[in-house]
Amino acid sequence: MAKNSLTITDNRTGKQYELPIEEGGVVRASHFRDMKTAADDFGLMTYDPSFANTASCRSRITFIDGDAGILRYRGYPIEELAEKSNYLEVAYLIVKGELPNHKHYAAWEQNIKTHTMVHENIKKFMEGFRYDAHPMGMLVGTIGALSTFYPEANAITDLESRRLQTRRLIGKVPTLAAFAYRHTRGLPYVYPDNDLSYTGNFLSMLFRMAERDYQPNPILERALDVLFILHADHEQNCSTNAMRSVGSSQVDPYSAVAAATAALYGPLHGGANEAVIRMLMDIGSPKNVPDFIKRVKTGERRLMGFGHRVYKNYDPRAKIVKRIAYEVFEVTGLNRLIEISLELERIALEDDYFVSRKLYPNVDFYTGVTYQAMGFPMTMFPVLFAIPRTSGWMAQWAEMVRDPEQKIARPRQVYIGEVVRKWAPIDGRAEPTTREDAVSDQI
Ligand code: SDX
Repeated sequence: MAKNSLTITDNRTGKQYELPIEEGGVVRASHFRDMKTAADDFGLMTYDPSFANTASCRSRITFIDGDAGILRYRGYPIEELAEKSNYLEVAYLIVKGELPNHKHYAAWEQNIKTHTMVHENIKKFMEGFRYDAHPMGMLVGTIGALSTFYPEANAITDLESRRLQTRRLIGKVPTLAAFAYRHTRGLPYVYPDNDLSYTGNFLSMLFRMAERDYQPNPILERALDVLFILHADHEQNCSTNAMRSVGSSQVDPYSAVAAATAALYGPLHGGANEAVIRMLMDIGSPKNVPDFIKRVKTGERRLMGFGHRVYKNYDPRAKIVKRIAYEVFEVTGLNRLIEISLELERIALEDDYFVSRKLYPNVDFYTGVTYQAMGFPMTMFPVLFAIPRTSGWMAQWAEMVRDPEQKIARPRQVYIGEVVRKWAPIDGRAEPTTREDAVSDQI
């Protein structure tokens, strides 16, 4: 019977090493440290920039099969959850591992709604931002600031504290997000209305004006709630890696979520939906798509909303977003930018440049046109990603805290710099020749 192991011969010494292949098809990198040429040799390391082929943890939360285009939260297919569930139930599933019964759902909903308010000082803190501050930058700052209101949150090994901070963050991030939006519009903040659903309350805090009894449009409320479900978790993406890495220092979860939010802000990650709209507006019309595609293929432009580190097939979330877009347009009217998206997709899915690189639409490709039709400014798009992802980040963080194998994250490096040099007094120094991040005629 075939053995579940690798046999490696170190040709430097002729020694053979047998490495067990563990569950999930992994080999522990630590085994390579045993491969030495002498007793005092450090041994070998594995080298994997951006961790493209390195598992950092074992997780039970989200499963992705990138080749088959499969996404499941705790074993439930995303398509089923998007059709039959709601975001708050999915947040419970991601955090607790099971779908709730009536009693547990009611308690969970009540627990989250108990924490939708924020300390009044947060309003003063937020007023310090410029009038045109990017809401995602404000969110990073205000989530980080929350850590100063809950100093007891650094008791990260205490289960009750973890549970309380999880409820607080899932409850408060929409409020901070809505306050950031109102700040950019110069509008008074709207306090939470806990008589509304989780997503309905968020829409109320965003869009309520002088009406006494704000009721969100039910089609838009459901559309946004499904979009929240689609964005709730996605295994070890860049921002979740930041959450786990920063959290591994045993800092409080508010500081770790602030770091994860900062990672999500980047245009290659959660900022891609904003970048997609800017790209579509730049293209301007479906007739300009062929020329844009040419510029992508020369490397001059990137087709934002396309490609994925894991999905080498159509992102299953993108299919659902595309359907939701048209449900929203039924209420808001067609966002004509989608015609450019459809033409980009049509051409890209036939063009060998994209097919050979397995580049397909990802979750961000159609969200922008949908959010824009719902009345959100582009700068709010990454914020709409951060809100639901908070439940995923908190679940992944708690899993890391509980994992006996996890320690403080501290990767190694391959040193390629100067070996050793002797300091010289400034008077005797020559013109520096090789400087990094420098321009020859500038200091
Ligand atoms: C999210 O990880 C997650 O799970 C993230 C996420 C989540 O839910 O958390 O799914 C959310 O972040 C989705 C991704 C949103 N980002 C974008 O849409 C930005 C555009 N896409 C890319 O920049 C890119 O595809 C990444 C960043 C998403 C993935 O990059 P990889 O895996 O590092 O791939 P790569 O850059 O090595 O690309 C491989 C090749 C390269 O060409 P060659 O050097 O081989 O010639 O494909 C090309 C790239 O140039 N390529 C693209 C492209 N994406 C990759 N070419 C044009 N347009 C693109 N979008």
